[in-house]
Amino acid sequence: MEKTLLLSIFVFHWHFINALFTVDVPHPQYTVDYGSNVTMECRFQVNGQLKLQDLSVIWEKKEEEAKEIYKLHKGKENFTTQHSDFRERVQLLKEKLQLGQSMLQITSIKLTDAGTYRCLIGYEGADYKTITLQVRAPYRNITKRIVTAEHNKWELMCQSEGYPKAEVIWQNVEHQDLSDKANTISETGTDQLYSVTSTLKINTSINATFQCIFWNKELKENTSAILIIPDYTVDSQRTNSRRYIGTALGVFAVFGSLLLCVLWIKKARKDEESETWTNNATMKVSCGKLSTDEEEGNCRETLLENEKLKNVRIVET
Ligand SMILES: *[C@@H]1O[C@H](CO)[C@@H](O)[C@H](O)[C@H]1NC(C)=O
Ligand SMILES: *[C@@H]1O[C@H](CO)[C@@H](O)[C@H](O)[C@H]1NC(C)=O
Repeated sequence: MEKTLLLSIFVFHWHFINALFTVDVPHPQYTVDYGSNVTMECRFQVNGQLKLQDLSVIWEKKEEEAKEIYKLHKGKENFTTQHSDFRERVQLLKEKLQLGQSMLQITSIKLTDAGTYRCLIGYEGADYKTITLQVRAPYRNITKRIVTAEHNKWELMCQSEGYPKAEVIWQNVEHQDLSDKANTISETGTDQLYSVTSTLKINTSINATFQCIFWNKELKENTSAILIIPDYTVDSQRTNSRRYIGTALGVFAVFGSLLLCVLWIKKARKDEESETWTNNATMKVSCGKLSTDEEEGNCRETLLENEKLKNVRIVET
């Protein structure tokens, strides 16, 4: 109620009180990335020292029903009628008012912030201008994964979030288009962004290089990631006996864990004489677990060896 009243006062004053008082926008349009900050600016004339008690500033977003973002009424800030979309995300740079600059900062820009904004200023007259804000969400962080199912059969995956929906193009090192072998799905991800996942299944060999390109047609922007088929199998190929290496690693893992356990028990015994007995209790418990699980080599400390083992198994299957 009060808001519309104030707006009508502004519009009224704008025509009749002082036609010489004008608000200007140095940049009628801003384009910012999702998640970043923006500072939009309107200018007005201050002749001499600013009389803050005479100044009113309103920033609002034009929608079916305007959303109030910021209000300074006769020199006093008022957040009671601020729209919840902008709560804790806006700030007027008050030190700039003296220079005739009404600068509104909005942080953590969302896709829904895109649109038209209006800045109204009442001082020695009243006027307003509009500013458009565009929000881009490039597919910047690409997550990639390479999995092998069978010998020389690989599954390459690229995933990223952005807006609007991107097409994913796959190329090999000769820039041949492999996209028809890929499967791309897009889902609605966080905060209205699209989560686009593309999977390419391909027969290829070690060290082959591929590229997934997220083509955001509307933004005329491409982001890409490079995937190189890894050489997990180099050892086993050399000896031509992967099973043997697998077993050897397994045995090594079991003995490694046994050895660690013995060392731990020794250390625990030693520490028992000292004062931190609670720590020792935990240590012994984990050692107990280790000795029952040792057949499987199921010890945390042998994670590294097990990791190697997994790789070998992947190639085997
Ligand atoms: C956005 O503004 C906030 C608060 O002023 C600041 O902490 C943050 O670092 C800024 N972020 C960027 C991307 O500039
Ligand atoms: C993005 O990549 C596609 C496919 O490679 C290409 O056709 C398009 O021209 C590229 N666009 C830009 C802006 O680089």
